[in-house]
Amino acid sequence: MNVEKYYIETYGCQMNKADSELIAGMLEGFSCRSVDSPEEADIILVNTCTVRENAEKRAISRLSQFKGLKKKNPDLILGLLGCVAQRNRGKIISEKSFIDIVLGPDSYRHLPEIFNGCKFPLLDVKLSRAEVYEGIIPYRRNKINAWISIMRGCDKFCSYCIVPYTRGRERSRSLKSIIDEVKKAIDDGYREVTLLGQNVNSYKYNNYRFPDLLDAVSGVQSVQRVRFISPHPKDIDNKMLELMRDRQNICNHIHLPLQAGSSRVLKSMNRVYNQREYLSVAEKIHGYLSDVAITTDIIVGFPGEMEEDFLETLKVMDKVVFDSAFMFKYSPRPGTKAALMKDGMSEEEKADRLTRVIEKQREHTLIRNNALVGSVQEVLIEDLSKKDPKEKMGRTVTNKIVIIKEGETEIGDLVKVKIEKALGVSLFGKIV
Ligand code: SAH
Ligand code: SF4
Ligand code: F3S
Repeated sequence: MNVEKYYIETYGCQMNKADSELIAGMLEGFSCRSVDSPEEADIILVNTCTVRENAEKRAISRLSQFKGLKKKNPDLILGLLGCVAQRNRGKIISEKSFIDIVLGPDSYRHLPEIFNGCKFPLLDVKLSRAEVYEGIIPYRRNKINAWISIMRGCDKFCSYCIVPYTRGRERSRSLKSIIDEVKKAIDDGYREVTLLGQNVNSYKYNNYRFPDLLDAVSGVQSVQRVRFISPHPKDIDNKMLELMRDRQNICNHIHLPLQAGSSRVLKSMNRVYNQREYLSVAEKIHGYLSDVAITTDIIVGFPGEMEEDFLETLKVMDKVVFDSAFMFKYSPRPGTKAALMKDGMSEEEKADRLTRVIEKQREHTLIRNNALVGSVQEVLIEDLSKKDPKEKMGRTVTNKIVIIKEGETEIGDLVKVKIEKALGVSLFGKIV
């Protein structure tokens, strides 16, 4: 049986997106080519997320949709990859016998076995303490920003979070292999590199820590922009901020997940900082970097979150005025500590709190973005605008989307743009 055409769909965080690029890299190595529609494929892979219940449901329903294609093409191979595979292990194959491959995040090296006539189902969900996919060249479809995974796993065990169970223990890639990948990406024409990790600033390889890596990456010749996600507030250190201040090419954007404002809730979340400590980190960031953007993640409705706790979240938002935020209703994940806590809050109440944080964030995003109206920003042009292909879309150093209405420019250009308007999460402007 020839497996010549693959189709990958990816859900979840950037780590998953980067993993899909590694998987694509492995398949391309066997002359298997990517196709844009599942109907054309010999193998369909769904790389899944289980961080909230909805994400998991979406992944499973997507796979079930692909099941229909097997009637027309009985040789079609269907694979479940990523965090849902890891969480459900072999169970899912016994329930859904149409799935041929179940591989967890540390088991993707098995994938090429499909080219050697392996037996199905191909199942492996062992977590590794060492796998960092050294030596595999990712196949990237985006041509502007190279995502580079620098560490895997998470040891923080926030009480609500499934990630430490699906991704296993923290481990980092060697500094040299990361730098080699950065150099290659630059040689291939990439303008921007984004260093990725569940706790990117927990990077640790021999004596090298995250600031050492950031120093080395931003020092690679011709790297125009360096980004990183997601740092943990507890591990933000002065050396990292000094580098961000002193190096032009490290982007002034820090994603600083708050999760909750109340120190009592933070403790029960096992976030290892309290409200005062979080606020002092945010203040320190603003002290070092005058025009930085701080973005965040917020969970509402954590077990035991009283109205007065929730008001503390709004209070922290008012103090920091985040540039943008991802906001979620708490979703219990079986196997985590918080799933055992009493969760007495109704869905309506959670939904109401979510609406209130979204409302506040909308105001704050506008305040931050309106402050840029009239200024000139450096923008990296990434794509055509989705709404109007005559217009272009790019990002500021602070990771804000800018739609360029006027002026000649090509994808990949770094241009100066005068910001004329802020609307929703986007800025609008013209090239100067
Ligand atoms: N490692 C990253 C976050 C990974 S998960 C970090 O710590 O910043 C991305 C976001 O999903 C988290 O920041 C959190 O806000 C949210 N999240 C994780 N588990 C959740 C749950 N059980 N319910 C709701 N939101 C959750
Ligand atoms: Fe999950 Fe916390 Fe680890 Fe982030 S730091 S991945 S929220 S356990
Ligand atoms: Fe989701 Fe796994 Fe990422 S659970 S958020 S895809 S690490």
